Amino acid sequence: MKNKILVTGGAGYIGTHTCIALHQAGYDIVIYDNLSNSSREAVNRVSTLIDQPIEFIEGDIRDSESLRKVFAAHQFFGVIHFAGLKAVGESVAKPLMYYNNNVSGTISLLEVMAEYEVKNFIFSSSATVYGDPETLPIDENSKRSCTNPYGQSKLVVEHILEDLAVSDKHWNLITLRYFNPVGAHASGQIGEDPNDIPNNLMPYISQVAVGKLFKLSIFGNDYPTVDGTGVRDYIHVTDLAQGHVAALNYLEQQDSSEKNSSVGFLPINLGTGKGSSVLELVTAFTDVTGQNIPYQFADRRAGDIASCYSSATKAKTLLGWEAKLSITDMCADTWHWQSTNPNGYE
Ligand code: NAD
Ligand code: WQD
Repeated sequence: MKNKILVTGGAGYIGTHTCIALHQAGYDIVIYDNLSNSSREAVNRVSTLIDQPIEFIEGDIRDSESLRKVFAAHQFFGVIHFAGLKAVGESVAKPLMYYNNNVSGTISLLEVMAEYEVKNFIFSSSATVYGDPETLPIDENSKRSCTNPYGQSKLVVEHILEDLAVSDKHWNLITLRYFNPVGAHASGQIGEDPNDIPNNLMPYISQVAVGKLFKLSIFGNDYPTVDGTGVRDYIHVTDLAQGHVAALNYLEQQDSSEKNSSVGFLPINLGTGKGSSVLELVTAFTDVTGQNIPYQFADRRAGDIASCYSSATKAKTLLGWEAKLSITDMCADTWHWQSTNPNGYE
């Protein structure tokens, strides 16, 4: 069936938002997730938001037998592959766990896809594959290099996908390189729910705002940037979700075009093309929400870079997609989610 999509990791932060966008765009979805970093409650809320039950399978992408059962039971047009572990610090402490989950897991998924002749694939990669960029904005041809096992796991998968595209012209492998996803669904019902103390800036700010954390530490104020703090390309998770719908539409167009040409390995940045500093984000959050965010300057965080923002041209030209939501929307929606769900999905 052309509009049936398997969403691995669909119970997670970006996955849940994408499932809603896919449903709204007319796709049928099946979520496959081992719930290692998510909950049934997140899936239930997606179900409530789309006013329809969701087919959810609790399973691990490394479990080929379990995957085979899913592929045997459904005729998928393609797979959107979010499932993976994503904490940079944890990956340094537990590299084998990260390579096993993110690399071996993706190989096992691709093997089962090949068995069932499902060869449309959208992969969650990351701007982290660009390492410390030589030029800004970062376009898709920029040099790739990573300094931590999490980033390496994404880069290794990218190389696997490149090799796969060369080996067999029937594969269509879109690799979406996300910049810094933030924000939450406008309903306030789903959002980012870190297990522990957040590593990332926006969830840290929102937990300070809601009183769960005392003070933000800003890692470095001596970078060569607008105000000395790190600059990133924050992108609203709802825009990011729409980027996946645009990528699927693109695959469908290729599939039904007369030439039926294969896409091969196709990397595309999903970002806004604009950078914001840590201080700019803190100020925007306070302006939008009225919440004061106490902060202190601290040492630079190991492995951090000064600035990172995307060239968003390829996504616009090829997919007809561009980010629409502003930093104001990102802060307002984060706060809506955090203030109505101070303990996440608990
Ligand atoms: P998330 O942790 O919220 O979602 C990932 C989901 O995958 C979780 O629900 C988890 O339970 C599931 N999962 C993990 N390992 C699995 C396995 N072996 N089998 C089945 N399910 C498994 O993370 P997210 O922020 O939604 O990220 C989604 C994807 O996007 C990840 O691959 C991540 O590396 C990538 N990414 C995220 C960011 C970001 O900042 N959030 C940036 C760039 C790329
Ligand atoms: C943003 C800025 C920090 C926390 C990470 C991963 C990357 C990708 C997205 C998955 C930086 C500063 C942060 C804090 C701070 N994930 N900061 N105080 O590091 O750009 O990217 O998430 O693929 O791989 O590395 O995002 O939100 O952690 O940091 O001052 O408590 O905020 O130094 O300048 P980052 P981030």
